[in-house]
Amino acid sequence: MVTRRRRPPSDPAREVAYLLLRAVDAQAAFANLALPRLLAERGLTGRDAAFATELGYGTLRALGTLDAVLARCVDRPLPDVEAGVRDLLRLGGYQLLHTRVPTHAAVASTVDLAHAVGHGRAAGFVNAVLRRVADKSADEWTAELTAGLRPLDALAVRTRHPRWIAAAFAAALGGDLTETERALRADDARPITHLAAWPGRSTRAELCAAVPGAEPGPYSPYAVRLAAGGDPAAVPAIRERRAGVQDEGSQLCALALAAAPLAGRDEHWLDLCAGPGGKAALLAGLAAERGAQLTANELRAHRARLVRDVTAGWDVPVRTGDARSFPPRPDGYDRVLLDVPCTGLGALRRRPEARWRRQADDVADLVALQRELLDAALRLARPGGVVAYVTCSPHPAETVDVVAGQSLLDARTALPELPDLGPGPTVQLWPHRHGTDAMFLALLQT
Ligand SMILES: C[S@@+](CC[C@H](N)C(=O)[O-])C[C@H]1O[C@@H](n2cnc3c(N)ncnc32)[C@H](O)[C@@H]1O
Repeated sequence: MVTRRRRPPSDPAREVAYLLLRAVDAQAAFANLALPRLLAERGLTGRDAAFATELGYGTLRALGTLDAVLARCVDRPLPDVEAGVRDLLRLGGYQLLHTRVPTHAAVASTVDLAHAVGHGRAAGFVNAVLRRVADKSADEWTAELTAGLRPLDALAVRTRHPRWIAAAFAAALGGDLTETERALRADDARPITHLAAWPGRSTRAELCAAVPGAEPGPYSPYAVRLAAGGDPAAVPAIRERRAGVQDEGSQLCALALAAAPLAGRDEHWLDLCAGPGGKAALLAGLAAERGAQLTANELRAHRARLVRDVTAGWDVPVRTGDARSFPPRPDGYDRVLLDVPCTGLGALRRRPEARWRRQADDVADLVALQRELLDAALRLARPGGVVAYVTCSPHPAETVDVVAGQSLLDARTALPELPDLGPGPTVQLWPHRHGTDAMFLALLQT
């Protein structure tokens, strides 16, 4: 008779972390959307939710480096290990190397989890592999993985990033590896939520009063930074669409376009890649205050709908379509925002899985699109108008290289409150310098 091992008492936090890894791997889920769903389904709150988050997000951030360790502890190529079992090993490996969970608890709880999630037959394998991982400390593994590597390659391993991302950050920071290390480590910090008070609809004072611990952002006159764990849903102005959740760096890019010096008419503003509408809402409020008209455009219908939702009541025409075929105004637009689709390397702290999901090969196609979109934006602006080219990425191929050879205004003058902006004329914001996403801004004169 076959006796089945009884399902051990479940450990809900570890099980949620495991299910998150599976959703990211098997369904290409976004961790920041999948985790809240899983926590709600399992009814996890408080310390259990925090532990599930630490395990799930931490494992996703360290994934490539954990896999390099596991590859040295498994007797076959790691990709040949069944996907669910591989995720168990990653979760156990993360606990062993990067948390205070004692070795025996990390191994035993992962073996229990293997039984609980239907991988009981692999329990012995999981146990053996994790014991091999536990033979060395995190520092010893790092020393082993970085032995003989060049400084940048070693830095990538130490900070648990793919090499191409470490190289892009280093290039954006002028090759300064000490600062590059700070920039890469900032991707592991849990970002706090920023809100934007939309001009004419809410104020910072109102937003700050609605959540304990909220404070005005240091740079944008519309920004509020919530305390760690602060819940934007608790803010009535957010629920009533009078304010939005928006990184302060994104706000600054929209504000810089509105503040850029402009000779002559200042009535027609255009946001060419507007979905989901964070910058459009801010610009719509500013345009209304200044007697200008904002027009918005977005390729994807569902994102265009979101733009319509957030700009409702401001009389913003929203077109759904490709910006490259946006119909020109005979006399051109005065101010154009071009917030291009990009690798998103500037917001890795918000997307735990993104650093390993994005591939270096993605860059070339995006850059080709960014260049075409910039051509379109420059055609749509009037002579003497201004275009703000914005990315949420510090990758030089997507930033300074795209705008090279254009007539650039000094974007720093449109952001007078900001420290550490470098030599200009373009601006690169950084989480480790400014507490914002790593937004890039160039202001182009047409
Ligand atoms: C970085 S996001 C813009 C974020 C937005 N400005 C905000 O602040 O909420 C880039 C947007 O460009 C859109 N997009 C991609 N290709 C496009 C194209 N060819 N024409 C217009 N929009 C495009 C994407 O769907 C995406 O919504």
